Amino acid sequence: MKILVTGGAGFIGSNVVDTYIAAGHKVVILDNLSTGSLSNIPDGVTFYPVSIESKDMDTIIKIEKPDIVNHHAAQKSVPASVENPLYDLHQNAEGFLNLLESSVRHGVRKVIFASSGGALAGDAPIIPTDETYVPRMISPYAIHKYLGEQYLHFYAVTYGLKYTVLRYANVYGPRQVPDGESGVIPIFITRLLADQPCTLYAYADQPDGTTRDYVYVSDVCRANLQALTHGDNEAFNIGSGTEISTSAVYQLIADLLEKRSIPLNRAGERKGDVKRSVLDIRKAAEKLDWRPNISLQEGLKRTLEWQQQFLS
Ligand SMILES: NC(=O)c1ccc[n+]([C@@H]2O[C@H](COP(=O)([O-])OP(=O)(O)OC[C@H]3O[C@@H](n4cnc5c(N)ncnc54)[C@H](O)[C@@H]3O)[C@@H](O)[C@H]2O)c1
Repeated sequence: MKILVTGGAGFIGSNVVDTYIAAGHKVVILDNLSTGSLSNIPDGVTFYPVSIESKDMDTIIKIEKPDIVNHHAAQKSVPASVENPLYDLHQNAEGFLNLLESSVRHGVRKVIFASSGGALAGDAPIIPTDETYVPRMISPYAIHKYLGEQYLHFYAVTYGLKYTVLRYANVYGPRQVPDGESGVIPIFITRLLADQPCTLYAYADQPDGTTRDYVYVSDVCRANLQALTHGDNEAFNIGSGTEISTSAVYQLIADLLEKRSIPLNRAGERKGDVKRSVLDIRKAAEKLDWRPNISLQEGLKRTLEWQQQFLS
């Protein structure tokens, strides 16, 4: 198949690109390099340094005629969306709508959409949270991801454009870079490697910080592979199904790096942060034939190896 990957120069998108190429697919990348890197793009792959909200994007889809659009381009920071909801709306909702219009216009068969299970579940009363939970969103990032999902339904019903929504938990692994606000694992690793203290944002009634569900990037890539042929017009949680506190993740990393003596600073809660989050992943097992393979301990070891190599 020919697949256009938006955000293919970024962390998850570039790993998905590698997976698709290894499976024998032809890949084209569209990415404006706002957070992605040219070094993530494999030699020989056609790359367009273009924004999804631009007119050029339509020309690219017209020329390339992909069978599938795999959409990973986005503003990915929850705190940034709280700071600037309009910017998030422009990038994550209007940009996606633009992409969907072009997809319909030029005969794309299916769109695979990187959504967020953690953000959509918000402070859901049922934990682990499954896909039937009607989101009560607490950040513009989550609202705009959900809007994207609703638009997919509209285009499927109205124009027959197929889709699969992959609602990720917290993804981590090689090529994830700390951006100061999101990506707690690379933030902890980078700071501890430099012997700098880390900060834990905690609640009075949850002193070990927020809880999350962490999924290793190679497992996420397999879900993107399965979505090429499974799960039409449905949404799937892609996570580990295991809840762990931020302070426990910190301890695992500090132990692996043998940096237990560096103190952990504590601060209050951050706006927009979901307090507890873990996804129910049974639907993906049933209908996508997908299960995570990599434990958090193993994934952290691999991530550390990559990061030490990358930083040296
Ligand atoms: N990392 C996670 O834990 C996580 C969890 C849930 C969902 N997601 C979603 O997965 C996707 C990829 O996230 P990531 O962590 O790899 O982030 P990333 O920032 O590494 O990747 C995003 C890529 O999209 C590109 N991009 C951003 N805006 C663009 C635009 N308007 N036009 C074209 N390219 C643009 C960036 O340059 C970058 O290469 C995003 O949609 C994100 O919301 C990520």
